[in-house]
Amino acid sequence: MHSIVFIGGGNMASCIIGGMIDQGFDPLTLGVSVPSEQSKERLSKAYNIAVTSNNNDAIANADIVVLAVKPQIMRNVVLALAPALPKNAVIVSVAAGITVESLQSWLGSPRAIIRAMPNTPSLVRTGATGLFANDQASQLQKATVSSIFEAVGYCCWVESEALINAVIAVSGSGPAYFFQILDIMQSVGQELGLPEREARKLASQTALGAAQMAINSDQSPSELRDQVTSPGGTTERALNTFRNEGLESIFRQAMNSALARAEEMSKDFSA
Ligand SMILES: NC(=O)c1ccc[n+]([C@@H]2O[C@H](COP(=O)([O-])OP(=O)(O)OC[C@H]3O[C@@H](n4cnc5c(N)ncnc54)[C@H](OP(=O)(O)O)[C@@H]3O)[C@@H](O)[C@H]2O)c1
Repeated sequence: MHSIVFIGGGNMASCIIGGMIDQGFDPLTLGVSVPSEQSKERLSKAYNIAVTSNNNDAIANADIVVLAVKPQIMRNVVLALAPALPKNAVIVSVAAGITVESLQSWLGSPRAIIRAMPNTPSLVRTGATGLFANDQASQLQKATVSSIFEAVGYCCWVESEALINAVIAVSGSGPAYFFQILDIMQSVGQELGLPEREARKLASQTALGAAQMAINSDQSPSELRDQVTSPGGTTERALNTFRNEGLESIFRQAMNSALARAEEMSKDFSA
């Protein structure tokens, strides 16, 4: 009897399952369904949990069903498993662009549904996840789903489904923004004469340190920035360049573009 079952066992599901087991979830209560023999073997070896390739068998006794397949196949997967879904099970979808309304219509009857938007640092247990629940989801279901995503990092609830797209613009797509900045910092470091490895390490460690300070501190990022900016110093000169060249405007445009794409995807995949 498995109470939390993953449909799909790729990158995202694997890292969540790994995090849950590290955090003390009992592997006997977890299950996963994947079509390929290769993935079945990999998941069974790595986590010692029940693995099957039959989605409907997998969910027969589930309390929580986590949909972790690609958005493109979500409709067919949900239509096929709907008749086998236990009456009181909550559905958790991690797919971008699949709305509660679409899931509801494919499931065919009112259901507890939670949308989760994790990000790739979940792979190294430093993920950031936004969660939204419809009215059918109980407090107990929400608490259990929080504990699933807390196993791979930070998570928070948002009040409206539209805010899941804001989560995508901030943290879903966010890792790539920082990779882009790290790439630039590394390149400039190399141009200034640092060896590749050292330039990469100095830039990455600086990002980690700044993020850790922002997480641990009660002060806002702008206060932290001001504290490390001496009048007339090097940091001030660099920040003035960002300001004069419109960095904030570029970032605003980029994040609003991500938001617009998330909204388009919700339409593309709608029922
Ligand atoms: N990766 C991320 O950072 C990230 C972030 C946020 C949200 N997401 C969302 O997470 C979902 C999964 O992404 P991913 O990166 O984990 O993809 P992935 O690595 O390609 O994994 C997809 C999984 O789905 C399985 N699958 C395919 N057809 C299936 C079916 N009919 N029934 C059951 N399982 C089936 C695949 O099985 P095989 O292994 O046997 O091929 C594979 O295990 C997507 O909806 C994505 O939008 C991902």
